[in-house]
Amino acid sequence: MTDSHENCQHNPETSLQNLLDKNRQWAERIAELDPGFFPRLAAQHKPEYLWIGCSDSRVPANEICGLLPGEIFVHRNIANIVLQSDFNCVSVIQFAVDVLKVKHIIVTGHYGCAGVYAAHEEQRIGLADHWIAHVRAVFSRHEDLLMAEPVHLERERMLVELNVIEQVVNVCRLPVMQDAWNRGQDVTVHGWIYGLQDGRLRDLGLCVRERRRTDELRREAVTAWMAKRTRESSLAA
Ligand code: CO
Repeated sequence: MTDSHENCQHNPETSLQNLLDKNRQWAERIAELDPGFFPRLAAQHKPEYLWIGCSDSRVPANEICGLLPGEIFVHRNIANIVLQSDFNCVSVIQFAVDVLKVKHIIVTGHYGCAGVYAAHEEQRIGLADHWIAHVRAVFSRHEDLLMAEPVHLERERMLVELNVIEQVVNVCRLPVMQDAWNRGQDVTVHGWIYGLQDGRLRDLGLCVRERRRTDELRREAVTAWMAKRTRESSLAA
C-alpha cells in the first residue's frame, strides 16, 4: 500500500502534480488580489444560481458564465437530465431551493452533446444506455416534430433544445418547486443552450416563475420554441 502510494507520488505520469501545482498558483493568485476571498467564502455559502448541466468537460458552469467560486451551485450529469426518481439531482434542487434559496435554476444543454448524439443515433454505449434512454424518451415524445426536419445534424440540435425544454418541465413539476411557488418563493427556472463552437450561451426563452400545469407548460414552451425557430430561420434566409 505504502509502496504504491510512494510510486504514485514520485512518478510524474501518475502523481497529478501538475494539477496540485496549478491549484497552488491559482489560490495564491486569488489571495493576492483579494486576501479576504477564501475566509469570506468559507464563512458563507449563498449562491444565487443553480446550474443543471451536462458532465461534458467543455461546459464548465463557472468559467463560461464568468463566475467565481461561491456564485453558482452546480449539478451535472450526462445530457443534463432531471428525473423525479434521481435522488441525487432532486436533493441538489431541494437543497438549492429550500436551504440556499437560489433565485434562478438554469438547465443548460449543449450542441454536440455525446449523450444526445447517442440517443439520436440509437448508439450503444453500455451501462449509460439506461441513462440515455431518458433522452430517447424525449425523442419519442417529439418524434413527429423531429422527423419533419430533413437535415440530420439540425435534427440533433433540435433534440438538444427539446431535451432542455423537457428537463425544465421536469424541474417545474417537482414537489419541491410546487411547494416553493405555493409559499410565494421567488425562484425562476430557465432553459439555455451552450455552443461548443463559439463559447456562447443561448436563452431558449423559457422562463417559469410560478406553478403551472405540466401539459400546459410543455405545450406553450414547445409552441414558443417552434415559433422562435421559424422566426430565426426566416431571418437567416
Ligand atoms: Co453533453
